[in-house]
Amino acid sequence: MKPGRFITLEGGEGVGKSTQAKALAAALRACGLDVVETREPGGSDGAEAIRRLLLEGAADRWNARAEALLFAAARADHVARTIRPAIEAGRWVVCDRFLDSSIAYQGGADGLGDEAIRTLHAIGSAGYLPDRTLLLDMPVFDAAFRQAEAGIANSDRFEKRGEAFHDRVAESFRRIAEQEPARIRTINAQGAPQEVTARLIAALADLLP
Ligand code: TMP
Repeated sequence: MKPGRFITLEGGEGVGKSTQAKALAAALRACGLDVVETREPGGSDGAEAIRRLLLEGAADRWNARAEALLFAAARADHVARTIRPAIEAGRWVVCDRFLDSSIAYQGGADGLGDEAIRTLHAIGSAGYLPDRTLLLDMPVFDAAFRQAEAGIANSDRFEKRGEAFHDRVAESFRRIAEQEPARIRTINAQGAPQEVTARLIAALADLLP
């Protein structure tokens, strides 16, 4: 059996991540691969229930520490019930957000620090990591403009946070990518969607059968 691969897409709000996750999964299927599409927070029944706790309600519903624990708990269920079983069955998993979102949002932008988030991941998911992480990069201003143009309202508790928060998220993602160049590839998210998808596929070339 050919090995399954775990691929994650990361990036700030409005960079086109969800569209690209779908396009990437379709492109991998066209290569003959069996692909599971999933997302965080969510991706299993328990994690989807936690997603609702995290994204709905008042901005101050949780503090940063409680949020970090909830994301880690959702991830633990998602890894155990959806991701690992798929990889062990030889499938490819394309996941919209994963651990690096917690490092960038809770660890970096909220100031809990990378180590605290990695410790929660060690406890929740035995430190399970993607084979490759594709970081979609675009200036925060352009991403906000794209969202406004597409008529996407700032609807969840995280999207409502201000520009300074989202600048810190972007800066944290860039820092994480520099720390782990073998796993994390930064992809220019500007340009036509098909061009961006082609860049994603090129960044997986060494993993393709
Ligand atoms: P989404 O907009 O990609 O559906 O993600 C929901 C929000 O949750 C998004 O604003 C980023 C945030 N988030 C974190 O803060 N930490 C995490 O670990 C994950 C997975 C998402």
